[in-house]
Amino acid sequence: MAKTVLVTGGAGFIGSHTVLQLLFGGYNAVVVDNLNNSSDIAIRRVKELAGEFGNNLYFQQMDLRDKPALQKLFAERKIDAVIHFAGLKAVGESMKKPLLYYNNNLIGAITLLEVMATHGCKNLVFSSSATVYGWPKEVPCTEEFPVAAINPYGRTKPFIEQICRDLQHSDQEWKIILLRYFNPVGAHPSGYIGEDPRGTPNNLMPYMQQVAVGRRPALTVFGNDYSTKDGTGVRDYIHVVDLAEGHIAALQKLSDPKIGCEVYNLGTGKGASVLEIIAAFEKASGKKIPLVMAGRRPGDGEIVYASTEKAERELNWKAKYNIEDMCRDQWNWANKNPNGYQSPEN
Ligand code: NAD
Ligand code: UD1
Repeated sequence: MAKTVLVTGGAGFIGSHTVLQLLFGGYNAVVVDNLNNSSDIAIRRVKELAGEFGNNLYFQQMDLRDKPALQKLFAERKIDAVIHFAGLKAVGESMKKPLLYYNNNLIGAITLLEVMATHGCKNLVFSSSATVYGWPKEVPCTEEFPVAAINPYGRTKPFIEQICRDLQHSDQEWKIILLRYFNPVGAHPSGYIGEDPRGTPNNLMPYMQQVAVGRRPALTVFGNDYSTKDGTGVRDYIHVVDLAEGHIAALQKLSDPKIGCEVYNLGTGKGASVLEIIAAFEKASGKKIPLVMAGRRPGDGEIVYASTEKAERELNWKAKYNIEDMCRDQWNWANKNPNGYQSPEN
């Protein structure tokens, strides 16, 4: 019988792409999302993209902290495993509103774990982040690097990771995989689902995409005096479809009897500079991106990329897409949906 996976935050950027891969993989997907940073149009489009598998998707608008509603959902549906994406993720906002972030991300996770325990569902994949490493002194970052998160959003991740470890130590029936993502970008190759941030984007790719479609006049490059190949910051950008596949690999790993609570990086293991990304995006889109060179963004680091050895060895997973693929798919999504999910259907 097909396994049923609860996906929290499944209407969001990474969640929607993962739900699609789950459906294609023959899983049933139960999605809960409060739509705080997403649209139910994403859910509808995932259903359509999934074709005959679309009927295996059930969506309920719900805040994860609504424990009675979550209890009811678990009582009504036999859930075999959970992928937990739901959370707030804007670094700057988290510095202004730390309690909002701690409340949403920590209470959300604890409520979920309590309800899972009550219903005997003890299989979890959690969205952590490379943000747990802060700005590491050397690269590539291995999973053994010390945790050094530097802002409230970032700190919610190691806190939740530790809660998971403590829980698993207390009850070995739990199987938990913590996935630390590097910089997710791109979109489904169909151009039908993608990232649609509310307000002004904080991250490089969504900002550049909005410049390319004429929603913003220019892209600001934050710092060109780093000691990198061209002076701009270097990151490990990973295609969101590769990331989604990484979640399927993690789910499969949960059935390994040796798994307790394990952490894996999901990245490509390759660093790209801001100027390299801009050049690749200009080539993919055929658009010239107007640039404003500015000073370093406060709190930014110089160079971060993943060690991917552990995920390759133990999850049997490796990123397939390169920077050109990421930019092509990002542009395809932007071009078809210049105003994200609010664009007219075509
Ligand atoms: P997203 O904002 O697109 O998706 C998160 C979803 O969770 C949204 O649809 C939002 O409405 C929902 N949500 C938030 N709080 C909720 C709550 N209390 N109850 C129910 N739903 C709630 O973000 P994303 O980029 O898809 O990120 C998914 C996860 O991956 C997050 O936990 C994020 O911290 C983590 N992550 C993201 C990145 C990134 O750059 N995108 C990097 C590393 C880790
Ligand atoms: C940011 C978050 C990090 C989060 C990650 C998710 C901060 C300090 N860190 O990291 O916690 O996990 O996103 O993907 O916000 N850049 C520009 N112009 C822009 C935007 C970005 O030049 O308008 C540069 C940045 O200086 C950086 C690179 O582009 O060198 C990538 O930036 P961004 O996409 O924001 O990701 P991170 O800084 O890695």
